[in-house]
Amino acid sequence: MVQLTLPKNSKITEGKTWPRPARATHVRELKIYRWNPDDGNNPTIDTYSIDLDDCGPMVLDAVIYIKNNIDPTLTFRRSCREGVCGSCSMNIDGQNTLACTKAMDEVKGPIRVYPLPHQPVIKDLVPDLSNFYAQYAAIEPWLKTSTPEPEKEWKQSHEDRAKLDGLYECILCACCSTSCPSYWWNSERYLGPAALLQAQRWLIDSRDEKTGERLDDLEDPFRLYRCHTIMNCAKACPKGLNPAKAIAEIKIQMVERQL
Ligand code: SF4
Ligand code: SF4
Ligand code: FES
Repeated sequence: MVQLTLPKNSKITEGKTWPRPARATHVRELKIYRWNPDDGNNPTIDTYSIDLDDCGPMVLDAVIYIKNNIDPTLTFRRSCREGVCGSCSMNIDGQNTLACTKAMDEVKGPIRVYPLPHQPVIKDLVPDLSNFYAQYAAIEPWLKTSTPEPEKEWKQSHEDRAKLDGLYECILCACCSTSCPSYWWNSERYLGPAALLQAQRWLIDSRDEKTGERLDDLEDPFRLYRCHTIMNCAKACPKGLNPAKAIAEIKIQMVERQL
């Protein structure tokens, strides 16, 4: 049997246990991944206790509480705090999701918070999503046309507009792609569920006139065809979208154009 041994510098060790907030009566414990590229140490899991009477109900509230009241060095991304910007995606209690829409009540026991999996870590809870964003750019996510521009606007019927539902709501949080086993092993070549859902958003847009070229760009054993319908992506999406379905629809278009 193959024995896998992690390199020494990637082993996670027990970190610091921070003191409980003074006089707190309702306390919740969080175990948070910490790694600082500047100190040369291994990653650790630090244990924090927060005062629930002085903190909002979401995991993001807890992380902000820790930064403001306990440990200002804790590093994470966030912006909108209402599930719109896609910045605060993390692995919480073993599931990729948005910290701002994940209630602490939904988690039993200590709340484990890690960065999104299988991406290089920049610091603490901040993954390096450069490859993810480059893949999004690669699908050319804008309207491409060849007919002369209309004077006012590109028109679309209500029925055609409705075809974008379930696609346009994607906030590029990367929860799906970083939960996809095919993406873990082939992220350099497989576009992954988020970029492919976005590709379908433009393929299906009645105003776009480059459908054939878009399909040509995806016609590749790795870029599209590494999806094995494992469905982790749909389970992970905090916006309730189904990237696996979008991928299946792209594959159907590939077949249909051969007929
Ligand atoms: S259905 Fe496809 S894209 Fe979604 S997790 Fe599975 S392999 Fe990845
Ligand atoms: S499809 Fe869902 S999980 Fe994937 S990037 Fe978009 S919003 Fe995030
Ligand atoms: S902070 Fe914007 S989605 Fe969570």
